[in-house]
Amino acid sequence: MRSKIVAGNWKMNLSQQEAKALCKEVNNMNIGSEIEVYIFPPMLYVSDCKAISTHVKVGAQNAYPKDTGAFTGEVSMWQLKEAGIEAVLIGHSERREYFNEDNALLKQKLDAALAHGIKPFFCCGEPLEIRQNGTFLEYVKKQLVESVFHLSAEDFSKVVLAYEPIWAIGTGQTASTEQAEEMHAAIRSWIEEQYGKEIAENSSVLYGGSCNPGNAQALFACENVDGGLIGGASLKAADFSVLVAEGTWTILN
Ligand code: 13P
Repeated sequence: MRSKIVAGNWKMNLSQQEAKALCKEVNNMNIGSEIEVYIFPPMLYVSDCKAISTHVKVGAQNAYPKDTGAFTGEVSMWQLKEAGIEAVLIGHSERREYFNEDNALLKQKLDAALAHGIKPFFCCGEPLEIRQNGTFLEYVKKQLVESVFHLSAEDFSKVVLAYEPIWAIGTGQTASTEQAEEMHAAIRSWIEEQYGKEIAENSSVLYGGSCNPGNAQALFACENVDGGLIGGASLKAADFSVLVAEGTWTILN
């Protein structure tokens, strides 16, 4: 059975005090055992949140593939592991776009995360022009082929995938349930081609992009959507708790 996950990507938001307060609130939410909740605070607050969290898992939004060395400004997977951090986002579209991260670098990051026992949340998704010209399935498949599908079956089983159409991120325009399900079903079929049915059935594929308390239930109820990677709505405890509850509700029904 695949894990159902609701994860909050706080991006570059919140003061230290706000981050700690929000972390406490998330940690105090009523989280059923059927669901896993992750938060991805800004790097500076990751250890603060880790110290507060008892059952919410804490991840970093980014890390560098080399363990140590002259890479000013970077933090390594090895350092995250040493600090007790459990997960890392890899391949978020904002990293791809603003920091020129390409599929080859993301492949190295994925390998480094797995080598250090950190759970990678690998993000994929197409920009608007690719959605409009109709080549979105090929585009996302290429991202997975070039960064992820070199992994052994054992390593791949540790990866969470997140489909985040760029045109839906922070725009308020979410993918329809049909659009999300079409992509998620395609992703699961490519996993099956590569790794077989059992691994495909057990892989978690999250949806991200303007997920909010109003649309989460319909999205999470899609057969191949296993939860969400939430941006804006994860910054407000009241909204995020609805998403956590929607995730749990969907699993139980
Ligand atoms: P929004 O939920 O703000 O659209 O952001 C989604 C996202 O980028 C999560 O990683």
